[in-house]
Amino acid sequence: MCGIVGYTGPREAYPIIIKGLQRLEYRGYDSTGVALLNHGLHVFKKKGKVAELAETLVGENLHAHIGIGHTRWATHGEPSDRNAHPHTSASGKLAMIHNGIIENYAQLKQELIKKGYTFKSDTDTEVLLNFIEDIRKNNQCNLEEALRIALKRVTGAYVILLIDEDDPETIIAARKGSPLVIGIGKGEHFLGSDASPMLEYTKEVVYVNDYELAIVKPDQLILKNLGNEKITPFVQKLDIELAAIEKGGYDHFMLKEINEQADTVFDCLRGRLDAEKGTITMAGVENNIEKLTKANRIIIIACGTSWHAGLVAEYIFEELCRTPVEVEYASEFRYRNPVVHPGDVIFAISQSGETADTLVAIEKAKQQGAFIFGVVNVVGSSIARTSHAGAYTHAGPEIGVASTKAFTAQLAVLTMVALKIAKQKGTIDEERYMHLLQELHDIPAKIAEVLKSSEKIKLLAEKYKDARDFLYLGRGYNFPVALEGALKLKEISYIHAEGYPAAEMKHGPIALVDESLPVVFVATKDKYHEKVVSNMQEIKARKGRVISVVTEGDDHSASLSESIMPVPAADEIVAPMLSVIPLQLLAYYIGVMKGYDVDKPRNLAKSVTVE
Ligand code: F6R
Repeated sequence: MCGIVGYTGPREAYPIIIKGLQRLEYRGYDSTGVALLNHGLHVFKKKGKVAELAETLVGENLHAHIGIGHTRWATHGEPSDRNAHPHTSASGKLAMIHNGIIENYAQLKQELIKKGYTFKSDTDTEVLLNFIEDIRKNNQCNLEEALRIALKRVTGAYVILLIDEDDPETIIAARKGSPLVIGIGKGEHFLGSDASPMLEYTKEVVYVNDYELAIVKPDQLILKNLGNEKITPFVQKLDIELAAIEKGGYDHFMLKEINEQADTVFDCLRGRLDAEKGTITMAGVENNIEKLTKANRIIIIACGTSWHAGLVAEYIFEELCRTPVEVEYASEFRYRNPVVHPGDVIFAISQSGETADTLVAIEKAKQQGAFIFGVVNVVGSSIARTSHAGAYTHAGPEIGVASTKAFTAQLAVLTMVALKIAKQKGTIDEERYMHLLQELHDIPAKIAEVLKSSEKIKLLAEKYKDARDFLYLGRGYNFPVALEGALKLKEISYIHAEGYPAAEMKHGPIALVDESLPVVFVATKDKYHEKVVSNMQEIKARKGRVISVVTEGDDHSASLSESIMPVPAADEIVAPMLSVIPLQLLAYYIGVMKGYDVDKPRNLAKSVTVE
């Protein structure tokens, strides 16, 4: 969380930084700040979104060829002007921005207070900055050396960018546990939490690794490790186009991303699935087929929406591959003392590839000898790089904070992986295998069909937007979809919603049901369908307002429902890729109708790089 941008070169730095911060706002947006070097250090910062800061700076002299900028998701210290980054050191000569958490900041702060330092903010960042300045003063060393010494004392996660009034061409950066990309231009360099701030200027980037320091000047990039040894930067070519990170005529990124799903799932299947020939090509699976087929156990690790995709995958893997599966919240797994054996395979699912809990959970499993297979969207991200093997979801940049297209692409990848393992293990017969390949192949066209119902779902949003609570119910493959529907509604409309296995509602949640409670059933036709219909009856008998996602033509379910959201018929294994879409749209429209900024829901950030 928190977005960071830096620039050094011949162009005006401020417009590049502000535009870059706007692109990174998905990472946090409770305060914004910029520091520029031009005959001295100039810092502008404020509580609120990037546009609010930009507005207050109209008419200011912002001329500079070097600068750093930050959009914050608060960890230490409430969102406020004084806690906004950049922070300046006691001497006023250094400015720093930081993404992450310095865990031992309290101890460092005490040491500095004893030496007479005072603090202008409540942040861990200001502590680290003064700690660096203090080392520089006491050791009579340069800033780079002081930073290196400081980082050896620091525990926690960070990406920091540091500028010094006395060195007006250089940005010093360091990374551990949070992402940092450096874009290489002609006589200029760009820095960012991801590549989006630099896309229109360069396609050549370097992903900085943990425990690396970068000394960045307009025409020079030096990478070093904490032992002061030089590292040759590995330059990679980006294959993202600018259009992919713009709204393209939609009101919100979330709506754009929901509507992209026919294409993103198609892109995910393209070049991999050949339904006619009956083949799935995935190098990450083929090169490790022995490990995957012989797995004693599969453990799926993820958070949030990716965890919901993991729950669907649990059902798929067990059904098709007959391998025992456990699905774990990364944040719980990492702090337990989990039993992991060398024969276990971990599937780590993550859109961003940077989620701190997932990353640490992977490391923990790796240390115990597990094989890590990453299912990740962002190419070159930390989880992608730390996994032994994997498959990208190819959904393109997801910018809306509420995850949508990443979920359907994750399901597409996980289904293909399961089918490949099942085929190799012989746990699926040829007829079912060929049938499921065809069903997968047909999904993008069916998603396009579901998306046509957008206007009808908007009407339903109008009808239900004032409800105080929602219940989401489903069985089997549709149970995780119910969880995901409830999460989407909570996140962007701030309506309390709970997802439950439909049969479980009798054990408690049914007490909530009265004539004011909308109960959304994910009730597409599958082997549990009759049971779900009985659950609908039970809700209806208690005067609950039944809204159902149903298979087209299912008149019986429709007759039990106050409102329906039909989707095309599909095999139950692939149906979640369809049944989730009306729920994404319902949440989106309710959020918009309530007047909320659905792309930037309160308190949230897209990439959760703190624990
Ligand atoms: C929900 C959402 C979050 C993420 C979660 C994991 O809409 O976006 O719940 O799914 O933070 O993020 P990734 O997939 O990037 O690891």
